Amino acid sequence: MFRLGAKGLSKPEIQHFYDATTATLSYVVFDQPGGHAAVIDCVLGYSPVSGRTDTAPSDVVLACLHEQQLTLTWILETHAHADHLSGAQYVKAKTRGTARIAIGRGIRDVQAHFAPLYNFATDFKSDGHQFDRLFANGDVFEIGTLECEVIATPGHTSDSVSYRIGSHVFVGDSLFMPDYGTARCDFPGGDADVLFDSLQRLLSLPADTRLYMCHDYKPGGRDLRYVCTVAEQQQDNIHIKAGVSRAEFIAMRAARDATLNLPALIVPSIQVNIRAGQLPDAENNGIVYLKTPVDTF
Ligand SMILES: [Fe+2]
Repeated sequence: MFRLGAKGLSKPEIQHFYDATTATLSYVVFDQPGGHAAVIDCVLGYSPVSGRTDTAPSDVVLACLHEQQLTLTWILETHAHADHLSGAQYVKAKTRGTARIAIGRGIRDVQAHFAPLYNFATDFKSDGHQFDRLFANGDVFEIGTLECEVIATPGHTSDSVSYRIGSHVFVGDSLFMPDYGTARCDFPGGDADVLFDSLQRLLSLPADTRLYMCHDYKPGGRDLRYVCTVAEQQQDNIHIKAGVSRAEFIAMRAARDATLNLPALIVPSIQVNIRAGQLPDAENNGIVYLKTPVDTF
């Protein structure tokens, strides 16, 4: 019997939030007002000049959860971001602490690479246990009455995943809007050959599938855009539109990645984000410190 509102049949409600400082999009995805929600890629602001955090980018997300009277069940990361600190722990603490923080299982490789660079204490385990759930490709979970499928989309990083709810897919940093192209592949664990396969997976979804970006850099000063269809990407994406070969894509990425500076917040971001957004413990003077390895990145 086909029943409206049965698990997996509902259409998601989606609210987007834009952090202009890091050009990051966060999302609240929910089944219905008063129902259940997931937060995707929430941001904790951070000034590398003063060392001050700023909860404003996550406070707008919390305000939405409150306004819609939502119970937060998931805090989803599309990968360990290198350009902003995750607001996951802050959002979890502000929402009764029952939501589960999740990421792709490839986070273990990212941890194994970076933990030694930061010289984390020997009790830091690169096994992903800092997160509440590690997703594998094809995993399915529920957000209230919504059914969400995990699509592994490595290439930008080895832990990158996309989240599909019906015909809506949150693609993380694999893709950007068609006029900005695709994500860099020069971070540790990044691989343009692997990203090409991930992008084919996304672009082989039905043409009217809506793809939601994690970043928008507003090229040419245009207005913010954060969602487009698979058909638009196939037709217009400057890096991966239909007809671009694997070899062409890999050559383009190698050439472009060689010109890119590191993200301004990569050093503070990675050390926090591979700990699921947890800041280090305060030292014996009550102050929290982030580390900067010299001549390392
Ligand atoms: Fe990224």
